[in-house]
Amino acid sequence: MVGGRGPFPHVPKSESRPEFSVTPLDLDALFGSLRRFPDVEAANLQAHDATDRFLLETAAGYVTGPETRVAVIGDRYGALTLGALAVLGVGHVRVSQDLYTGRLALQRNAEAAGLSGRLEQLGLGAALLDGAEVVLLQLPKALAELEEIADAVARFAAPGAVLLAGGRVKHMSLGMNAVLEQSFGSVQPQLAQRKSRILVATQRKAVPAEPPFPVSEENSELGITVCAHGAAFSGTRLDIGTRFLLGFLDRLPDARHAIDLGCGTGILATMYAKSRPGTHITATDQSAAAVASARATAAANGLASRITVVQDDAMSTFDAGSADLILLNPPFHLGASVHAGAALKMFEAAARVLEPGGELWTVYNSHLQYRPALERLIGPTTEEGRNPKFTVTRSVRR
Ligand SMILES: C[S@@+](CC[C@H](N)C(=O)[O-])C[C@H]1O[C@@H](n2cnc3c(N)ncnc32)[C@H](O)[C@@H]1O
Repeated sequence: MVGGRGPFPHVPKSESRPEFSVTPLDLDALFGSLRRFPDVEAANLQAHDATDRFLLETAAGYVTGPETRVAVIGDRYGALTLGALAVLGVGHVRVSQDLYTGRLALQRNAEAAGLSGRLEQLGLGAALLDGAEVVLLQLPKALAELEEIADAVARFAAPGAVLLAGGRVKHMSLGMNAVLEQSFGSVQPQLAQRKSRILVATQRKAVPAEPPFPVSEENSELGITVCAHGAAFSGTRLDIGTRFLLGFLDRLPDARHAIDLGCGTGILATMYAKSRPGTHITATDQSAAAVASARATAAANGLASRITVVQDDAMSTFDAGSADLILLNPPFHLGASVHAGAALKMFEAAARVLEPGGELWTVYNSHLQYRPALERLIGPTTEEGRNPKFTVTRSVRR
């Protein structure tokens, strides 16, 4: 890492910073070279967006030279991190990304650009933010995730730090300003450009002694404690699709190795572990926040030794034929758009990781009609239950 973690230079105001500038050509060349791989790639999906560009252009007003301590949060595929290094001239960048595929994409893009030695990939916390003077953030969708991020920046960043939080205008809400105002004395929305807006947060406030996340809550319906970081699906609440699938707990087979695929806070893994004392369970999710939440949930219920939690993209690192049961409440959103591809990718992964005769139990919105895909990709599929909204199916790996 560049520099120590001791006193840091004063960050000048944007007006006094003429040395570094972003030329569109520099950014165009960088952005043009970025790939989303191993995330889904398609002609209509890009590895950067207008918010990345706007954030970097705005950051140019705060970066004073290679020594400026820059942290990046929520970079999708590396546009912000590599832009700060290659275009703004920052010497070293610390970066936190929630998604596994985003982390791999950044590594690959950094290697291709010859910049991998100048960045550090870290979780959201002290190591990422300690002494940071400029923090670039792609605003998350969930306010709870923003609250956790804002608290961490206020808690660990340099006293004079500036948080530049950008997003697409259509995905932003006034609630975001209010959340940032809990941790910062000044939150200034900038004029929108190219349908993106930046909130400039400064004057960090005193933080509570304990970080607000993970949140823990007793679920009396399930008889377990659920723990959730801000970005975890559904927070500590029980999703209604998950509730419907849990209604079939007694009918699930007794597995040797069961997997909770796309585990979120780990409710399915925890409930299955409680009902089958002999089984080892792996809970896996692409989201770092989900994985940390599932680990905390397992520990809070005394099941840490029986539930292994792994961050991965659709079990890419799991051995073929290594499980005899997979439980799945699949996602049906890819970014902001509805995209069945995310669920199909999970079904394909389940087909690979299940042993012949192994079972995939899944719940989905009935209108999605996944059954033909399950039949094709996994094997014979029966409808085990249906209510006005959801269908639960059992697919036996052929
Ligand atoms: C509908 S949520 C279900 C969460 C949890 N199982 C529950 O029932 O509350 C779907 C989960 O799948 C995860 N996910 C989406 N795509 C994934 C992928 N390619 N690999 C692993 N996890 C993924 C999401 O992060 C999310 O936590």
